[in-house]
Amino acid sequence: MGWIIPPPKKPAKTRADLARERAAKVQWLIGHGYLKSARLERALLTVPREDFIPDDYRDYAYLEVPLPLPGERATISCPHSYPLFYEPLGLDEGHRFLEIGLGSGYGAAVAREVVGPRGLVVSVELDPLTFAFGRRNLEGAGYHDIVLVQGDGGLGYPEMSPYDRIAVTAACPRIPPPLLEQLVTGGRLIAPVVEGGIQNLVLVEKLLDGTRSRCLCEVLYVPLRGVHGAPAPP
Ligand SMILES: C[S@@+](CC[C@H](N)C(=O)[O-])C[C@H]1O[C@@H](n2cnc3c(N)ncnc32)[C@H](O)[C@@H]1O
Repeated sequence: MGWIIPPPKKPAKTRADLARERAAKVQWLIGHGYLKSARLERALLTVPREDFIPDDYRDYAYLEVPLPLPGERATISCPHSYPLFYEPLGLDEGHRFLEIGLGSGYGAAVAREVVGPRGLVVSVELDPLTFAFGRRNLEGAGYHDIVLVQGDGGLGYPEMSPYDRIAVTAACPRIPPPLLEQLVTGGRLIAPVVEGGIQNLVLVEKLLDGTRSRCLCEVLYVPLRGVHGAPAPP
């Protein structure tokens, strides 16, 4: 499995074109069984994905492909990734949510809409260029209350823990232990985990006496870097 990224081009679509594509994409996500919850549906209809994409790729905002971002190997994940992660997480109103991999800021904005004013969104990004891009997008879209942290997300962000839900949006060799420590008992974490060269999307539930994990499907994400990332090739 691999992604074919369309060539960069000058943006030509109008706001109205993109709003129509957004509504159609939401229907597509429902029809294909990715999107089930009303809160997430409203969030996906509310956040203009095109405002989180570099101009040269803006017209492709609703295509099912990840698109390149400023920074080293950073991408905005394809549209179905967000319900793919947030539905099994059961992300809901009032949750304290930690995202590893801010990227474009789109996933954080969607999560902000879902958790609402009683919840909290914290997002950590390692790459300084990507971090600046994601922060600019969020500010431009009016999201001023998301806690943005530049650093190694494999270490989590203990300052605002514990979290009810955690999403790791880069592929890791195993679930970083600090993230499990920062999750509440009964909380859920989702991450692409690499095993034998294959990435599986793994859902982990933290129990009183350990964790319960299950593989949901095969996926393809950029590698997690940092202390808990993949070892550098020789
Ligand atoms: C698939 S992209 C994230 C997509 C993002 N959630 C969005 O909605 O646009 C994965 C991101 O993880 C970042 N990343 C990789 N290793 C990281 C680490 N150790 N800590 C924080 N971010 C990391 C990459 O720089 C990249 O921006």
